[in-house]
Amino acid sequence: MGNEGLTTKTVLQYLPEPLLRWYRASARDLPWRRTRDPYRIWVSEIMLQQTRVAAVLGYYARFLTAFPTVEALAAAPEERLMKLWEGLGYYSRARNLQKAARIVAESGGRFPDTYEGLLALPGVGDYTASAIASAAFGKREAAVDGNVLRVVMRLTDCRDDIADPKVKKIVRSQIQAIMPEAAEDIRVFNQATMELGATVCAPNGPPRCLECPARDFCLGRLHGTAEDLPVKGAKKPRRVEERTVFLLLRQGRIALRKRPGTGLLAGLWEFPNVEGALDEAGASAVAEGWGLVPRQWESRLTARHIFTHVEWHMTGYTLEVAGDGPADFTWTDAGGLKERAVPSAFARYSDEARRRLGGWKED
Ligand code: ADE
Repeated sequence: MGNEGLTTKTVLQYLPEPLLRWYRASARDLPWRRTRDPYRIWVSEIMLQQTRVAAVLGYYARFLTAFPTVEALAAAPEERLMKLWEGLGYYSRARNLQKAARIVAESGGRFPDTYEGLLALPGVGDYTASAIASAAFGKREAAVDGNVLRVVMRLTDCRDDIADPKVKKIVRSQIQAIMPEAAEDIRVFNQATMELGATVCAPNGPPRCLECPARDFCLGRLHGTAEDLPVKGAKKPRRVEERTVFLLLRQGRIALRKRPGTGLLAGLWEFPNVEGALDEAGASAVAEGWGLVPRQWESRLTARHIFTHVEWHMTGYTLEVAGDGPADFTWTDAGGLKERAVPSAFARYSDEARRRLGGWKED
């Protein structure tokens, strides 16, 4: 093909055919691509919303073994659900998943089969509704996420800001215009645009243009701009929050408490913690304020965790104590810790707690 006639407007129309051929020859074999069951596809898309494929695979298999049907998920005890989600992050996804499962189960277990019907389910946004409608029902709905935006901006050598919702809308209609018509091709097409963005036209490091099915007509490649695209508006910097975390040990048990029902990590378990980076004297005063008597101090253990809008810088103290502490403390042994969902923001402290409780012997 000569490249002379290519414009931003026309370049996308060349995409479907080589893209589908490439996908059929070389796409990753992923479990949710082997099914048309909307339940299984939906669970995968929710898990994949903020999480990479490699991290999702194990969770996905365990989740479906525990809850093989939408009815099983609707009936799941909250603790079990959160435990299966432990470490995946963005826990409101799990709560919305269950809310949506209850809605579907109450309407006889039948999933909505249209974009609009899916969009009405809790936790299902524009991208996810399109991804499910196409993969499960062969509906001609373009699924546009960050991966697809990057691919399109590079293909069309476009410097519009992808953080602008208007740009996403335009890209969706551009993709919608070039989507194939046959249900089998539609199913593959959305998966293929995602796959290209995830594996070839990838977000970190230079694009692997020599492997790309669009290499002959990609304007970003032809103009040498691909690596500088997409343009993304400046984000607000994250707020840094200092916290002091307490590993309070009492005769082979450790104090946990439940986080409030709303806000960050809502309803999950945590080691008691307070705002501020306290020194030993400050931490000791807090422990005493909880009605505990510090008996022995141990290691100071620091950790960081990055959330979307906030970053925690944590200072931890392991403390042997006497006393019961406030009513919302639960003194938990190693087995109890294992059963409860403690988010990975506390991973360093959970490891330390397991180490300490595992080694504790009744005397
Ligand atoms: N990311 C979001 N949806 C995906 C899918 N179906 N396959 C691979 N990565 C994805």
